[in-house]
Amino acid sequence: MQLSNNDYFIISIILRTFAPYFLSRRTLEILKKEKDLRNFLDPLKADKKTIAFVPTMGSLHKGHLSLIELAKKEADYVVCSIFVNPTQFNDKMDFPKYPKEFDKDISLLEEAGCDFVFIPYIEDIYPEQETFYIDLGKLDQELEGKRRPGHFVGVCQIVNKLMNLVQPDAVLFGEKDLQQIKVVEKLFEKMEFTSRIISGPTVRDSRGLALSSRNERLSEEGLEQAPLLYNSLKYVKDRLYTEPLDSILKTARAQVMANKNFGLEYLFVYSLKDFKRANEIDPNKSYAVLGAARLEGIRLIDNLIVHPKSGKV
Ligand code: PAJ
Repeated sequence: MQLSNNDYFIISIILRTFAPYFLSRRTLEILKKEKDLRNFLDPLKADKKTIAFVPTMGSLHKGHLSLIELAKKEADYVVCSIFVNPTQFNDKMDFPKYPKEFDKDISLLEEAGCDFVFIPYIEDIYPEQETFYIDLGKLDQELEGKRRPGHFVGVCQIVNKLMNLVQPDAVLFGEKDLQQIKVVEKLFEKMEFTSRIISGPTVRDSRGLALSSRNERLSEEGLEQAPLLYNSLKYVKDRLYTEPLDSILKTARAQVMANKNFGLEYLFVYSLKDFKRANEIDPNKSYAVLGAARLEGIRLIDNLIVHPKSGKV
């Protein structure tokens, strides 16, 4: 049988349309309204399919995409949200400066094999001025909580809304923002959310700098210098179980402060499980070394998790 040009044309259209299905790669659906979420997700839930959720503020990088990868392993379908949440910006000048790159984000999510991206309108999320209240206890008074008043309450406000909208089986957060994970755990406990919280490791560049959407605002020279914070945390990590805590913290802080472009905000060690500031080190416990510093007006935050040789505690 001889095929005509027209036949080839029709076959190519069919192949192009259905190729993603043949390759078992689903197309990314862009959802903007709550009704879109219900239309797409409710039938999946009724069919007993599981959903993993990755909330983000967009301007996606490999750190976010690593959470999408992890989410794909944890559930049948993956929903990512992109919403630059105004209520968590304690520095109101930072909000308009936050990078917004929706088209690029959508291509990245498509490539990553994400199933749904939820990009709500601000008027739908916050139809009117509202105050959200949650008692976060010490979490709101230490480290990021102390430096960014109201930030974590704003994070809880939006995560609470998104959880009610998406209703996932699992939700993923990056260890890069370790204290945020502790805050979300508290929110879930208070709101009695039953979704699993899954954490993903921090993705870094080749010199150790933790990837962050805010890094885009650093100059070339700033980007060169930025790994200093990571190096000082690594200094503490490498000596945590073998040298006195006071002296290694002092040296690590001095390393950061030696660079005049850096403004060190904090550098502490916290116990990983109950998240309390450590004054001495128990050789059988796991810890996190957490630091924050300003460089070129940008806040860099980072942490390293340290486990004892005897195993994770
Ligand atoms: P955003 O800063 O966009 O981060 C979204 C998620 O990506 C967070 O869980 C964050 O910890 C994770 N992430 C960021 N950089 C990472 C890296 N280098 N490696 C691994 N994971 C990384 O965190 C927020 O948005 C917001 O506070 C949000 C939870 C979406 C609420 O508005």
